[in-house]
Amino acid sequence: MCRGPGGPPSDSAWHTVRVDQSPESPFLPGRVAVFGLGYVGCVTAACLARLGHSVIGVDKDEYKIRTVQSGKAPFYEPGLDEIVRETVAAGKLSATANAAEAIQNSDIALICVGTPSQENGNLSLDQLHRVVAEIAGLLSRGRKPYVVAVRSTVFPGVCEELVLPGAAVAANPEFLREGTAIADFMTPSLLVVGSSDAAAAGRVAGLYSPLGVAPCLVSLRAAELIKYACNAFHAVKIAFANEIGATSARLGISGAEVMETLCRDTALNISPAYLKPGFAFGGSCLPKDLRALTFRAGRLDMKLPLLESVLPANDEHLRRSMRLALDLPAERLGIFGLAFKENTDDLRESPVIALLEYLIGKGRAVRVFDPHIEVDQIYGSNRRFLFQAIPHIGRLVDKNLDETINWADHLILAQRPSAAYRKLIERSGKPVLDLHSAEPAVEAVCAE
Ligand SMILES: NC(=O)c1ccc[n+]([C@@H]2O[C@H](COP(=O)([O-])OP(=O)(O)OC[C@H]3O[C@@H](n4cnc5c(N)ncnc54)[C@H](O)[C@@H]3O)[C@@H](O)[C@H]2O)c1
Repeated sequence: MCRGPGGPPSDSAWHTVRVDQSPESPFLPGRVAVFGLGYVGCVTAACLARLGHSVIGVDKDEYKIRTVQSGKAPFYEPGLDEIVRETVAAGKLSATANAAEAIQNSDIALICVGTPSQENGNLSLDQLHRVVAEIAGLLSRGRKPYVVAVRSTVFPGVCEELVLPGAAVAANPEFLREGTAIADFMTPSLLVVGSSDAAAAGRVAGLYSPLGVAPCLVSLRAAELIKYACNAFHAVKIAFANEIGATSARLGISGAEVMETLCRDTALNISPAYLKPGFAFGGSCLPKDLRALTFRAGRLDMKLPLLESVLPANDEHLRRSMRLALDLPAERLGIFGLAFKENTDDLRESPVIALLEYLIGKGRAVRVFDPHIEVDQIYGSNRRFLFQAIPHIGRLVDKNLDETINWADHLILAQRPSAAYRKLIERSGKPVLDLHSAEPAVEAVCAE
């Protein structure tokens, strides 16, 4: 459960945060230990204390401890000094190097230690493993359930593998941005808690209840990956805007005007549209226009590595679908959909045609049904595209879905069927590979 998408928090929003003590959701201040008083840990500790929790910050760095104890922030972050001063004076925030003292006086630990890059790009888990070993050694069996939530950014699988007998583990990634960290904490754009233990997830989410933001309660691994997905998405957005901006400048066009206008479209551009994992794209526009844009940029002596990588990324995704289809334990494959998407008969650059070609080439028996395609009714560039790829396509296309279903051992959804067709497919009881489904198709693999 999540709240709907919110706009970016305003820099001054944290001033307005009130503690919600409505009878329906009584706020229960907790006792929290925050391990690591760096950018994330110190902001988290001070803000949780500001919300009314009793917080002990733990760090190995004497300077950071002394600074927090004296009511100051150990680094510059707008607004942090003030909150540290206020919460230390109110007795809500303290700092120590003594992990035992922190564990003894808390019910939840938030781990905010660093996970820096190694030389090969992998993340270093040394700080995390050291702190977890320390906490594990201090947790006494038989005490009331303790929760350890990892706020550091870690790859999927890392939290699952932590050995913490007597504690439930959660992932609670941090999304703050340095420079607006307090506002980002107090008006979070996203609150994610992952755990296989619902009670633990509830306790972690409960720490933030005064913020009035519905948490997204997800699996442990999903919580870990969401953080990477968000940062990758932000980075891709910046690189995209910069490549469009640079191209605009080269053409004597205002990049700001182009991107501001692009952002005015909140139906297709700045929206969840095109953000669901599924099948490869195709059709008469996206591949052609990407090719033209990158070709023309090349003629201007420009390199656009992000945009140039999009068609190869799409091809690789199509190859993943091909391998999934090839690996099906079936003799006869019935494909739903031939056009590049539903509700059109446009076959130009349809990835389904490449999929068919591939499967036929690998010796698979294939038939196909598309609600909007009758082969003898196809003309012009559509016909050329189709017959060039698969000259005997006429013999592979069924006139109704029942024929395909009855013939096939396994169905492949290359388009999303309408409700009526979906019902037919479900009723048939035939196994289905849905290429638009983002659910895991292979067994999960380990993080390391
Ligand atoms: N900085 C950001 O803007 C940001 C935002 C979101 C998420 N993150 C993630 O949060 C994590 C922390 O990032 P950061 O920038 O705050 O790191 P940081 O290096 O500023 O802080 C880490 C702190 O952990 C302390 N520490 C290390 N081992 C310890 C131990 N055994 N016991 C107690 N303290 C220990 C260090 O002394 C240091 O003060 C990273 O995984 C990072 O990727 C960072």
